[in-house]
Amino acid sequence: VTQMSAVYPELAGKVAVVTGAAQGMGATFAEGLATRGVHVVGADINEEQMLATAARINTDLESNALADKPGRVVGARVDVTKPDEHELLAQLALKEFGRVDFWINNAGIFPFALAEEITPEQIGATLSVNVEGVLYGAQAAARHLGPGGAIVNMSSVSALRVRKGRGAYCTSKAAVAHLTESLAVEFGDKGIRVNSIAPGYIDTAMTKWVQEDPIALASALDAVPLHRLGSPEEVFGPLLFLLSDSARYVTGHSIAVDGGSRH
Ligand code: NAI
Repeated sequence: VTQMSAVYPELAGKVAVVTGAAQGMGATFAEGLATRGVHVVGADINEEQMLATAARINTDLESNALADKPGRVVGARVDVTKPDEHELLAQLALKEFGRVDFWINNAGIFPFALAEEITPEQIGATLSVNVEGVLYGAQAAARHLGPGGAIVNMSSVSALRVRKGRGAYCTSKAAVAHLTESLAVEFGDKGIRVNSIAPGYIDTAMTKWVQEDPIALASALDAVPLHRLGSPEEVFGPLLFLLSDSARYVTGHSIAVDGGSRH
């Protein structure tokens, strides 16, 4: 049996901040990183669930024979729309683990509304969480990451392709893609790489509404050559690559993880 940490062993002992880590992809990222010896500050606006998730991961890893020297996950409450709260996350990482190497801006929201009906509250919240949240996370990362540090932002296939009811979301994710490039151009001076991941339909709470509606599901999968949703674990692999030394000359780009989606 290959130890998990045998893949990208250089990550062991590093420290990552992962936002939106109470559930879904963020929780999978936190667990996967800790399994490989990366210490994680997992942050979410849902404090109760974040603390429960951190406790579950730490307990699981203690009994996981494949995790060589697992990292520890510390849960924290953060509202990513508040710049100061990102700084507190960085301070927590420094206090608990003595360094910060990676910043994963994963928290996001998905409101479904036709363009004619999007309310000021909906567009405001979507841009605030999905775009400002990424910017403020990156600003904190720029203050604390050293050369070799990496930021990964969660974009979406929705950054490139639109569908009905997703005007606010698609606009926000297109902004994340462009923001990622802007950050890469500026943070390159510090030796910090900035990339994004553009997932397609991934099996999380965010896509429950698609999964529970047979017509919406058939229509969604129709354009996916692999004919199924992806799992959070299948997004974790590309994330790991982007953090690793194997990607040390990769910055300002987006990796699509979408089963080959054609819409
Ligand atoms: P999810 O809804 O399961 O998890 C999102 C997490 O973000 C939740 O725990 C939520 O409490 C947290 N969050 C929301 N607002 C926050 C705030 N203001 N401050 C801190 N935390 C906050 O979603 P999922 O599917 O795991 O998505 C993760 C990221 O991936 C999001 O950015 C999403 O837009 C993106 N994405 C998801 C896709 C999917 O098919 N599930 C496809 C493409 C992108």
